[in-house]
Amino acid sequence: MEQSSPKAVAGIYAANLVEDGMVVGLGTGSTAYFAIKRLGERVADGLNISAIPTSEASAKLAKELAIKLIDFENISSIDITIDGADEIDNNFNMLKGGGGALLREKVVASITRRQICIVDNSKIVDKLGKFPLPVEVIPFGWPVVARQIEALGGNYQLRQRNISENYITDNGNYILDCNFYPIADAPKLEKDLKMIPGVVEVGLFIQMAHTLIVGNDDRTCTVKEHK
Ligand code: A5P
Repeated sequence: MEQSSPKAVAGIYAANLVEDGMVVGLGTGSTAYFAIKRLGERVADGLNISAIPTSEASAKLAKELAIKLIDFENISSIDITIDGADEIDNNFNMLKGGGGALLREKVVASITRRQICIVDNSKIVDKLGKFPLPVEVIPFGWPVVARQIEALGGNYQLRQRNISENYITDNGNYILDCNFYPIADAPKLEKDLKMIPGVVEVGLFIQMAHTLIVGNDDRTCTVKEHK
């Protein structure tokens, strides 16, 4: 994808907001990729940051770019996290996990002071859930979880890596991609799903974004702060 695509423009804009000395959460996905690449350039130019990656893929990219990675033992909060989303609504609620990294993304977001969501405008929606909602589950007993999801009114597909293998997350779990569209009450659905034994995390990020950066086709960005 080229540097002038809406995803690239949003990612680069967000990376330029990072300041010297910050602890930075590195998102996952094709939009976060551009932010990490830009941070790598800035580090090469002398920017001093410490970073926490949200996936093995982002950790690998950061290491290639000589971005210093740290552990949670060494920090109590993260200054800025730059991450994508599969959907974001007008209340800054996000649906995430299309790339399978929802669990680490949510842990990182939970201690982030300023979560920056970077998207192109195809991700802005009135109602969440047209994009299948990822639910990370332990492999043991996943059909039990799946039946509970159906009881809540959804249906699901067990994510596949290929025709004969299930997709496995960085944490060794499965993902059920669920259809609850249109999600009428996202906070309630998140709670209901998290109450199911065997569910590890749900790809609904309620009120977790502070800043929304939308990359436009004309290479500009629209920036909105959550009120
Ligand atoms: C990764 O698990 C996701 O939450 C991504 O942030 C999301 O899927 C957005 O990905 P793209 O930036 O590749 O569209």
